[in-house]
Amino acid sequence: MKLVNNNQLTKNNIGEKVSLFGWVHNIRKFKEFAFVDLRDRWGITQFIYKTNDLKIQLTKESVVNVIGIVRERKEYNKDLKTGEIEVIAEEIKLLSKSKELPFEINDNISVSEELRLKYRYLDLRRNILKNNIILKHKIFKHLRDFLDNEEFIDIETPILAKSTPEGARDFLVPTRNYKHFFALPQSPQLFKQILMAAGFEKYFQFAKVFRDEDLRKDRQYEFFQLDMEMSFVDEIDVQNLVEKMMQYLFKKLGIDIKIPFERMQYDYAIDNYGSDKPDLRYENKLINANVLNNPNEFLFKNSTTKSIFLDDIEISKKEFKFLDEIVQKNKGNRLLYLNIKDGEIINSSFKISDFSQIKNFIIDNEFLNGTLFLVNDEYMNVCQSLGALRVELNSLFKLVNEKIYKFAWIVDWPMFEFDEENQRFVAAHHPFTMFKEESLETFEKDPKNARAKAYDLVLNGFEIAGGSIRIHDAELQRKMFKTISMSLEKAQEQFGFFLNSLEYGIPPHGGIALGLDRLIMILTNSDSIRDVIPFPVNSKGINLMLESPSEVSKEQLDEYYLDIQKKTH
Ligand code: AMO
Repeated sequence: MKLVNNNQLTKNNIGEKVSLFGWVHNIRKFKEFAFVDLRDRWGITQFIYKTNDLKIQLTKESVVNVIGIVRERKEYNKDLKTGEIEVIAEEIKLLSKSKELPFEINDNISVSEELRLKYRYLDLRRNILKNNIILKHKIFKHLRDFLDNEEFIDIETPILAKSTPEGARDFLVPTRNYKHFFALPQSPQLFKQILMAAGFEKYFQFAKVFRDEDLRKDRQYEFFQLDMEMSFVDEIDVQNLVEKMMQYLFKKLGIDIKIPFERMQYDYAIDNYGSDKPDLRYENKLINANVLNNPNEFLFKNSTTKSIFLDDIEISKKEFKFLDEIVQKNKGNRLLYLNIKDGEIINSSFKISDFSQIKNFIIDNEFLNGTLFLVNDEYMNVCQSLGALRVELNSLFKLVNEKIYKFAWIVDWPMFEFDEENQRFVAAHHPFTMFKEESLETFEKDPKNARAKAYDLVLNGFEIAGGSIRIHDAELQRKMFKTISMSLEKAQEQFGFFLNSLEYGIPPHGGIALGLDRLIMILTNSDSIRDVIPFPVNSKGINLMLESPSEVSKEQLDEYYLDIQKKTH
């Protein structure tokens, strides 16, 4: 008797006795016969039994072992790999009975994500999710093969670690050592730099990292980074390597992509797309409309006006209301729009005494039919709000429908951002990033204009990787900490181990980390990152299957010298 998977049997097996295992995917009854689709990881095979012969009642999703004889089907099912045959059951063993299901095991179900996450083991049986998880396995394998071939070494780093400044909150782990905590790593940043000091030269790791930050459709508390670091490299070397790796990976998945990727300066991205992760699959750039600035006109009194023109689409009042909210949520004071037909304004959301400037602007830019959006505010507010509008216009009006992949490197980043709340400069990437040559002498006096050897890789409007060349000089690293108002004592306390490692011969080095879950979310065209992670938390940070996070006992807290305070926020 042959033990086979449910995708294997063909006409060549007719007459053979076989043993199949799997889940009862579907049961159709016809007269005294039952036709069952038996499913396993590989596929579906139909078997038939006489309902009277079986003492047990088969239910959907029960697990069975079927022994029977293969025969040719009367009518072939072309949608099924095993569609030419069926198995006449001689024996059916019920291995595990399924209760009534909370939802069907089907790709086209419309149930809440909450229910799917609660019964994740059922959800993962659906092809769509199962295939995502299998694809993830394959992607990891291809990447590992590529890096191994390039002589990178996979090196582990601790999970019980120390706080690293990646910009999110840490997840802390209490210990039985009074008042002392571990922090889960937000990235293996310092470890990988220390591995360069240790002489490994080319490091990689599929690193699980942890960040306590607000969740979005492309964010989880824990996620995988393909973390890499290289010695004796500059920006271009890291970028070239990543491009080659992406091309290799996509090729393995049957997709041809062109390298080198476009390089776009940070300032250009902000000015033209209102975003440091522009979706380049569609144009709809932000157009300078400063000619409309007018100190006497309330709606145009601020320093900057920019516009977006939506070709051939006339928006409705309801759509406008929604879009105006998006603009205001993203720091723009208000959105203005005009509907244009044959180059003439036929409708506008606002009134001003003189439309002639706007009319000229429309003529100069050759806007014929469509909607013109305008925002007037301070520069960054205009960019940010129109950048958000641009993204929303794409999801409303489907400005892209082809399945294309638009990569770009965003380069020439500012080194610092000003933190208004604490009135100090903070590192825009992280404080181990090297300065551009031209900023080395000036950054202490003029942090605002200092530029970093940092680069992000953007794909279809998502940041899929971020990296930089690092500071490898202890003195410069100390100056860096000073510029972000970190005292030498504090730097020593937090990063003393790292600063020491810079004092014993460390090569110039740099690297990058790819957000793998995010990349796979894009590749699988998934609605959220949760669809490529087997056991994710929901958008509120709760694992509904585990019902975690959860309270712990008083005894456990006592062991760690911990006490729960009254709720204050
Ligand atoms: P960075 O902070 O840019 O860089 O992180 C690298 C990439 O990780 C992904 N990512 C996330 N994915 C899912 N959920 C999240 N919450 C989340 N946050 C980030 C993004 C991002 O580009 N140590 C540096 C790397 C370096 O400098 O080498 C770092 O961690 O795709």
